[in-house]
Amino acid sequence: MTAHAEDRVPGAACASCGVSRRTFLSAATLAAVAAVLDGCSQLTGPSGFGAGGGTITVKLSSYPVLANVGGVARVDGGNGSPTALVRTSSSTFTALSMICTHQGFTIDIAGSGFICPNHGAQYSKTGAWIGGQPASQLQGFAATYDATAGTVVIARPS
Ligand code: FES
Repeated sequence: MTAHAEDRVPGAACASCGVSRRTFLSAATLAAVAAVLDGCSQLTGPSGFGAGGGTITVKLSSYPVLANVGGVARVDGGNGSPTALVRTSSSTFTALSMICTHQGFTIDIAGSGFICPNHGAQYSKTGAWIGGQPASQLQGFAATYDATAGTVVIARPS
């Protein structure tokens, strides 16, 4: 094993690699900070605040709860960003991102709308924030109902 100069003289450069203790510690600190930040980014849910995944076509017969006005279902099927569809009348629907606008966690469907399991933000079925951790409105997407086909096409960004 090679002896390094800084093991014997504080602040001196390593004889074999030329890296000073200060340079080494600075690089190590930056690497540690980067690792922590990377870990935090994984806490923001599968797609952070984004709502990608592209257009999806929802076959209503696959979601019996959507047969009733006021019914709500998660309809992304694991494809792209979590997305909910709400039946607002016999012929209209609202599509919403299920990404919390506070810190980007995936929200859950609750009786009166949605709730974030992370800090408790609550949203109505329109996507409006209604309580808990303050947050802004959920992102909405155009939802086009085709009564003949029994489908709703949701226009999410790619
Ligand atoms: S991430 Fe949803 S309330 Fe904080």
